Amino acid sequence: MWVVKNLLIVVVIKGRWSSALIIYYKMDDYNEETFASDFVENLIEEFEKEARVEAAWPILVVSSKIRNQVWNICESVGQSARGVPATACRLLERFLSMSSQKYLKEHRDTVSWERYKQTLGKQLYLIIVACVQLVAKNCDRVTHVPASLMRAVLLKAGIQHSKSEILAMEINVFKTLNYRLPTWTTLEIAEFLASLLGLSKDAKIRNTLIPIMNLTEYHRDVLEYHVKAWDEAIRTPGSSSSKPAGSTVHNLHMCAGVVSAAVRHLRPPEANDAAQRLAAALRADACYIKAISDVIVKRILPERKKPVTNILKRKRRR
Ligand SMILES: *[C@@H]1O[C@H](CO)[C@@H](O)[C@H](O)[C@H]1NC(C)=O
Repeated sequence: MWVVKNLLIVVVIKGRWSSALIIYYKMDDYNEETFASDFVENLIEEFEKEARVEAAWPILVVSSKIRNQVWNICESVGQSARGVPATACRLLERFLSMSSQKYLKEHRDTVSWERYKQTLGKQLYLIIVACVQLVAKNCDRVTHVPASLMRAVLLKAGIQHSKSEILAMEINVFKTLNYRLPTWTTLEIAEFLASLLGLSKDAKIRNTLIPIMNLTEYHRDVLEYHVKAWDEAIRTPGSSSSKPAGSTVHNLHMCAGVVSAAVRHLRPPEANDAAQRLAAALRADACYIKAISDVIVKRILPERKKPVTNILKRKRRR
């Protein structure tokens, strides 16, 4: 446990000291096996916490149109690598969930709710930009995106916001999220899960993992839809579902599905075993992990061949 905790602290400390601390742990106390099992426990804990939060209040996956905008904005500001767009999307979804929950606790009439939703809709780009900023800063403090660049990117799409509006929204989003940002991107989780299978040094797996993870996150709405359909199809009266309660596919299971999809892609005979081992490590149902990798292989990977429309760039200037 403590290894992960110390690493978390390291993430918070800036500059030189962080690298000094990491070296210290690597030389002295770092133990790969302990680290791996701690990491797994941490991921499971995180998943359980997330599931409890979602059971009380749903977090909806945003539509493909909005996902497309998040990816476009990330690309425009040079932040499309290392799972940044996916994490920004997750933040956006959490923000929308938490802010509407907060709002509905205080207001109960439908008229003001409609007005509130309209306001959120108008601020959508501002919120997306804030999420991208937060994730970019969290991942890499050195090359964070200046508000002026964000402003220029929005302006190019005909959306006008001042620098101070952009900064204010960033603080608003951070506050609404109770100042909590995810420590790991889903790409990092998937890379870690691949290392559990002994695949971390396999360059081919890594190179396959990155685009599959990106594509799965990009089409997460498609994943949700098909996994839900699978769950409904296998459920016979009286039987219990192998899918965890709640309707969303959590990061943990999605990442396991992505890793087994990557194995399936490169070494088909080993795929079954990979899904079983990942499921066992994560205390999940192997059928569920296989179903997710099935959706990825059959429904999401074929999407790669379709052209991506860039709605943001096509938008006319005002
Ligand atoms: C992620 O996927 C989207 C959609 O296919 C694509 O436009 C984008 O270039 C990909 N990004 C990376 C870093 O692979």
